[in-house]
Amino acid sequence: MTQHDPIDAAATALAGARRLLVLSGAGISAESGIPTFREAQTGLWARFSPQDLATPEAFAAQPERVLGWYRWRRALIARGGVNPGHEAIAALERHLPVVVATQNVDGLHAAAGSRDIAELHGNIWRDRCPNCGHETVLPVAEPDENAPFSRCPQCRALTRPGVVWFGEMLPVAALERAQVELEHCDCVLVVGTSNQVYPAAALVEQAVAGPATVIEVNPQPTAVSGAVDIRIAERASRALPAVVRALDEAPTAR
Ligand code: OAD
Repeated sequence: MTQHDPIDAAATALAGARRLLVLSGAGISAESGIPTFREAQTGLWARFSPQDLATPEAFAAQPERVLGWYRWRRALIARGGVNPGHEAIAALERHLPVVVATQNVDGLHAAAGSRDIAELHGNIWRDRCPNCGHETVLPVAEPDENAPFSRCPQCRALTRPGVVWFGEMLPVAALERAQVELEHCDCVLVVGTSNQVYPAAALVEQAVAGPATVIEVNPQPTAVSGAVDIRIAERASRALPAVVRALDEAPTAR
């Protein structure tokens, strides 16, 4: 393994690590055909203003418009499905314990086989009643675009996706899980996030300031790119399978 190659350096770091925390963002699902949030032209926000859709106020004022947007996003996710980046992160569990703390709501890490996931911004496949809190988990499948929007089986109120909207608090358990793992892991893999949304971005900053080896996978530079230990300026669906291959081929030095 040549260490100046970041793929090999990442595989070496992972081969020597005991526990891995993955901090993922929209970029890891970009190659599943799901637009990220801040990339110009293709980003979701390029077409919609967040204030018009991903807020409790928007849902109260125009529920059908907000639910229509989430139905469209569910269809995109179901059509795109997992990509080799998601699968590579699940494959890392062959080598060491992995916790995935994701900002993504698409459910694709679980679909790819990752088993220990903290969903910092919730999950689009959960349907929650804003009235009585009743929650159902939907299958990852294309929604019927002609079906009426779902209503709570208990109180008949229109249900909303179980995701964090602007102005809402993150699920405490997920955030605490990520925080605890950050204090115990010795390797952090930051993939596909622009690190602009807090408190998720604070986890990345804490990782970079902490003792763990930090690997960043992102074709574009971010605010932490200059401070991480290993930077792989590649798309996740190319970089991550290459790291897993290098790790699989590495002599079992454990
Ligand atoms: P962004 O859209 O802000 O950033 C996506 C990042 O992924 C960028 O840094 C891209 O360079 C990178 N990227 C794009 N394609 C990639 C690829 N193929 N492989 C690897 N990286 C790639 O998305 P997030 O950082 O996830 O929050 O945004 C965080 C939050 O902002 C979202 O969870 C959402 C949004 O507001 C809520 O909805 C609460």
